[in-house]
This record gives sequence, C-alpha cells and structure tokens, in this order.
Amino acid sequence: MSHQSPPSTEPSKQSASNQSRGGLDGIIAGQTRLSTVGKSGFGLTYLGYSIEDLAEHGTFEEVAYLLLVGRLPNSIELQAFKDRLAAGRSIPKPLRKTLERIPSTAHPMDVLRTVASMLGTLEPEGAFENAIKVSQRLLACMPTALTYWHRFHREGKPREFDLDEPSIASHFLATLKNRKPTEIETRAMDVSLILYAEHEWNASTFTARVIASTLSDFYSAITGGIGALRGPLHGGANEAAMELLDQMTDPDSAEASLLTMLSKKMKVMGFGHRVYKGADPRSDIIKPWAKRLCEATGNEQLYAISERIETVMRREKGMFPNVDFYSASLYRSLEIPTPLFTPIFVLSRISGWSAHILEQRADNRLIRPLADYTGPEPRPWSPISQR
Ligand code: ACO
Repeated sequence: MSHQSPPSTEPSKQSASNQSRGGLDGIIAGQTRLSTVGKSGFGLTYLGYSIEDLAEHGTFEEVAYLLLVGRLPNSIELQAFKDRLAAGRSIPKPLRKTLERIPSTAHPMDVLRTVASMLGTLEPEGAFENAIKVSQRLLACMPTALTYWHRFHREGKPREFDLDEPSIASHFLATLKNRKPTEIETRAMDVSLILYAEHEWNASTFTARVIASTLSDFYSAITGGIGALRGPLHGGANEAAMELLDQMTDPDSAEASLLTMLSKKMKVMGFGHRVYKGADPRSDIIKPWAKRLCEATGNEQLYAISERIETVMRREKGMFPNVDFYSASLYRSLEIPTPLFTPIFVLSRISGWSAHILEQRADNRLIRPLADYTGPEPRPWSPISQR
C-alpha cells in the first residue's frame, strides 16, 4: 500500500524564546530505532513499517511482537506469542483483593498505575533477563485487571472471566461487556491499539526511559509511564475530548460554544501536537473507523458534531485533530465508559514503553540533563529567630 508522508516534522531548530519556555521542543534527547514521528520520507513508522500498512494489514499482537523482538513474526511465532499472552491473562489473588479495595471513585488510570506497581511486588522482575517475560505479563493481564476493577465496583461482587478470547482487543471488550464482541468491534479496537502502541520519545516514553536509565526495574518504568500518560496534555486528551463532546447537542451550537472557548483562549483537547505541524496520520486512520462505528450504533449526531469541531478548528486556528479526538467518538460507539478511554492507551502503549526500556538498557547511559539556573544569588544562612 502506498501512503503519503505527512508534512515534514523533522525536529526543527527552535527559537531561543521557545527553548527558554521549557518543554525541550525540537531537542534530540537520544536515539531510537523503534519509530519515526513524521520524519521526512518516513511519516509515522514502527521499525520501518508505515502506520498505514500496520493499521490496514496488521494485528495488535503482530505489532507488539515487532516492537519487542524487532521483526514481524511468522505464523508459528505469532501463535506462540498469542498463546503466551493468553496464558498470562489471569490476575493473582492478592491483586484481586487490592482491586476490590480501591474505591469505585478512583480514576482507572490510578488503578492501572497501582496494578503495575503491585504486580512488581508480587512478581518482581529480578534479573534483567526476565524483562521480556514481564512485558508480556503486563500486556496480558492489565486488561483483565482493569475490567475486573470496573465490573467489581459496578456489580458489587467478584467475578470470574472467560479468558479464552483470541486477541487482546477481543479479551478486553469481552471482559468489559460480558459478551462476545462482534468482528467489527474487535477490529476497530485492534486498529486503535495499533495506533496507540508507539510514538518515539513522547512524554510518557521519555519518563519510562529516564527511569530505566537509572537501572531501576521494569515495573517502576512502566508505572512512571502511566503517571505521565494520565495528564490531559498527553493521553488524557481522549477522555477530555469526550467530556467536551458530551456538552454539545448539535453541530451549530457546538460551533458557537467552540468559538466562545477559542475567544477565551481555551485549549480544545484532542487538537494540536508538539511534533506534527500539519496533520496527525493516526487521526486519518481512526476517523473512518469512528464514522463507521458511529453510523452503525446510532451515534451519527456525535460524529457530525466531531466533524464540525474539526472544521472550525482548522478554519479558526489552522489546527488539526490528533489521534485522541476521533478515538473519543469511536470508544463511545463501542459503549466504553469515558474514564476507561485513557487506560486503553496504556493497554496498548505498554508495548512501546517496553520496547524503549529494552532499547535503553541495551546501550544505557544515565539520562541527566542540565537546568538553566534562575534562582537567587548565593546568600548567607539566616537563623530561624531572625526570619
Ligand atoms: N486548542 C487551542 N489552542 C491550542 C491547542 C488546542 N488544542 N494546542 C495548542 N494551542 C495554542 C496554544 O494556546 C498556544 O497559543 P499561544 O501561542 O497564543 O499561547 C499555541 O497553540 C502553542 O501551544 P503550546 O501548548 O505551547 O504548544 P505545544 O507544542 O506545547 O502543544 C500540545 C502541544 C500539548 C499537544 C497542545 O497542542 C495541546 O495542549 N493540545 C491539547 C491536548 C491534546 O490533545 N493532547 C494530546 C496530544 S497527542 C498525544 O499525546 C497522544
């Protein structure tokens, strides 16, 4: 399949004023062979494969294998990988008990952060040779832990799950909904997991790599990644975009509300990107899936509102939707509760974070930048009685 490279987003030489605002824009902080984000002539690629090809022809398990092992699996390797993931889906009893005690009011991202951390106490990594096993365990059991917590608090009792679904996408949807997902639901979820799997040195991956660079353990790096992803400027934007869409009743009033927001210089979640300047290629892939699922589930109005917001953002601000914007209407059409949107990002991005932790460890050097000091001049200590 041929695909167009998005407008060049090569790291630009940032102006001094931008750099002094912090944020490390345009700074190359290290090397990776795992992905390119908008690199001229590449676009978004995972180990050289375009996101368009991966989303059209691949499955999430093939993509996760690619990221972890560095090449696509053959059919025997893929089946063995899927069998290992299926075998790792159950959650240990002490973790279940903890999930039952976490309040129903907790944010599910805090639940996943706790799960990653607690699993590290129950099944510690030990030697670094166990890293791949740990990453597969996390990929396999995080969906179960998330849906276990969600359903325990909704239904008020522990429950056993059927753990035999063939893929992570269908396992997640089946344990969430208590029914077998349809083929189109499963494929839409699978594509979404592929799009969220990896994205170079974004904030959460950078966090995971910084932690890995101290030679800390795998679980600590993943736990830190989850913390960084939670915020609305990063992964939390899909949930924030849905909350905004929920306030809109029709395209015309959505346009009016949006213009008011923009006049107040408010940010519209699900738009813009630090690296992409003209388009996020993941949005072009997820948007038709959102349309298809919205139409199939009577959510045409939600899709029409989303499209109007996109039109107004382009017209008024020259801004484009990122992957999170149309993920919101897709997940709503899949009847996924809004607070679970960002956790889905985690279920997928564990693959990318894991690959980066392995890459960091393979050629490690402590990540420790400098800061430009802006504090007071050296001064004498003042005794407490004189302050
Ligand atoms: N809505 C309205 N205005 C925006 C938006 C937005 N979504 N994004 C940026 N702008 C404006 C800012 O207000 C700012 O305007 P100003 O110069 O007049 O003050 C200008 O564009 C630059 O914005 P910054 O926040 O400095 O740009 P940065 O490169 O740091 O932003 C970011 C990148 C954080 C993604 C930003 O576009 C944003 O906050 N978007 C909304 C949150 C979001 O969708 N995050 C998901 C990103 S994708 C991902 O993590 C999977």
